[in-house]
Amino acid sequence: MIELRDLQDEDRARLFRWRLQPEVDRWMSDPPPSTTVEHDRWFDDLRLDANQAAWIITCDAEPAGLLTLSGLEGRHRRAAWGWYIGEAWARGRGVGRAAQALGLDLAFLRMNLEKVWAEVLADNAVALRAQAAAGFLREGYMRSHIFKDGVFRDVVVLAILAESWMNRRADVRAGLVRSRLIADQPGLAVHQGY
Ligand SMILES: CC(C)(COP(=O)(O)OP(=O)(O)OC[C@H]1O[C@@H](n2cnc3c(N)ncnc32)[C@H](O)[C@@H]1OP(=O)(O)O)[C@@H](O)C(=O)NCCC(=O)NCCS
Repeated sequence: MIELRDLQDEDRARLFRWRLQPEVDRWMSDPPPSTTVEHDRWFDDLRLDANQAAWIITCDAEPAGLLTLSGLEGRHRRAAWGWYIGEAWARGRGVGRAAQALGLDLAFLRMNLEKVWAEVLADNAVALRAQAAAGFLREGYMRSHIFKDGVFRDVVVLAILAESWMNRRADVRAGLVRSRLIADQPGLAVHQGY
């Protein structure tokens, strides 16, 4: 069963390990932290900054990945989506899609956002398929937008509005419940801050 939980102290080292993995890093716009000091600063900010929310994605209670929403404090009731599955064993079996459904519930039902948007490297087919399945639509295409690993990379801008998620939610959740990826009753109590 896939769930989201708040960050804990023990996640500091785990997130450093995950973020350094080439299979994760290759799809991130920013370079990975070069020192633990840099990582610690990022981790502390993530936990303290009211502008950001973050959850550990768990699979049968085992930590599997990270989901973040940033840019929360603006007046526009929108947030930027960030996520990865850090554990190789958890990729490619629906864990990301399940976490995505839980995260969109938090964003729209708990945090009352109007829009969630994401920047995805244009060749990240897995992420693009997963996000399209939840109802993210393409809003833009930015050529040579990111300089990564010695090359300029194109970026797709995706977004989903609250209304689109509410129209799609029951179908998406039903598929995930059938696959025993999420519980029938949404566990919206995962994050106490909203
Ligand atoms: C992108 C990412 C978060 C997606 O998470 P994931 O768990 O691997 O992806 P999904 O949940 O979509 O599962 C992947 C595949 O498993 C399939 N799958 C297998 N069993 C499934 C089930 N029971 N229910 C739903 N999907 C299932 C999905 O259909 C999907 O296949 P497809 O893409 O060929 O359609 C993850 O692959 C990842 O972390 N990648 C590296 C970092 C990254 O790219 N982050 C995003 C940056 S924008």
